[in-house]
Amino acid sequence: MTVMAWEHLREPDLRGRTVVMTGASDGLGREAALQLARWGADLVLGVRSRAKGEIVRERIVRETGRPDAIRLVELDLAGLAAVRAGAARITAAVEGRGIDLLIHVAGTVTRRREVTADGFERMTAVNALAPLLLTDLLLPLVRERIVVTASHAHTFGAIDLADPHFTRGGWSLRAGYGRSKLVTMLWGLEFAERLQEAGSSVDLQLVHPGWVLTNLQNATGSARLDRVVTAASRPFAMSPSDGAAAVLFAATQPLPPGSYIGPDGRGALRGRPTLLRRSVAALDRDLARRVAAWARAEVAR
Ligand SMILES: NC(=O)c1ccc[n+]([C@@H]2O[C@H](COP(=O)([O-])OP(=O)(O)OC[C@H]3O[C@@H](n4cnc5c(N)ncnc54)[C@H](OP(=O)(O)O)[C@@H]3O)[C@@H](O)[C@H]2O)c1
Repeated sequence: MTVMAWEHLREPDLRGRTVVMTGASDGLGREAALQLARWGADLVLGVRSRAKGEIVRERIVRETGRPDAIRLVELDLAGLAAVRAGAARITAAVEGRGIDLLIHVAGTVTRRREVTADGFERMTAVNALAPLLLTDLLLPLVRERIVVTASHAHTFGAIDLADPHFTRGGWSLRAGYGRSKLVTMLWGLEFAERLQEAGSSVDLQLVHPGWVLTNLQNATGSARLDRVVTAASRPFAMSPSDGAAAVLFAATQPLPPGSYIGPDGRGALRGRPTLLRRSVAALDRDLARRVAAWARAEVAR
């Protein structure tokens, strides 16, 4: 890890702590999981591909020498029934020990408007609604912190509660991804404030990892074009291990509840993790309450 200078931060000691995480099978989540295991965490990783999960497990065991550090749990975030089944498996996997940190990293980008079996626009389903449902289901087990990976793309998202899934048009990759991340920022704000008002020991932190070279960029639909985009981005975007820093910072550092963490560089594209400013819409408490109520009704189906 090169961006994050842990030497002048609190070096985390996660020995004996249980961390449940999504999105650890690839990208910046895979790097975050490795670092959490190095710090001693016992990881329960929710993955949709067992084969990819096994590769991650092997790497972590090889690099940490901790064969019992990882448990893999099947979890597909693209359907409400699958999220509920995954939450039940996670509950069984933590074996009554509880969850110290619940870290949502999984996310997706689609090239066309796709609809899940529940009738949801896919990016909103996976990026925003599934993490809310999983958080609600696991909350009784969480002891310390919930970390939700959003994105600065929320700044170009717009909420339309009359047509939240773009059934009447208006979908583009930018509009769909931006909306999914703005919904995430808003339910995250409402959740963080609700926890605080209830005097809970649990807090919630929001994260923007920065511009990170991962599979997420490969959304052109052409493998050749994807390679060109990746090559053109390489000098500017952060590596997945540097991109993991904001998630690790949000997970392990003392922070005001409901903070929004991301890189300190220009445009929040790269740099060291710091407190970031979010959009005016993402701070709108009335909108946050309405969006959270809508999202809860969607996932209650
Ligand atoms: N990369 C960036 O520049 C950037 C910028 C801002 C925010 N972010 C956010 O950072 C997070 C991580 O993204 P990344 O860049 O590391 O992308 P990535 O390399 O594509 O990794 C995405 C992760 O999410 C998992 N995932 C996707 N759909 C899923 C589903 N239906 N059920 C369960 N897991 C699913 C993937 O699993 P598989 O391995 O099975 O595909 C993978 O582990 C996302 O929330 C993303 O929106 C990224």
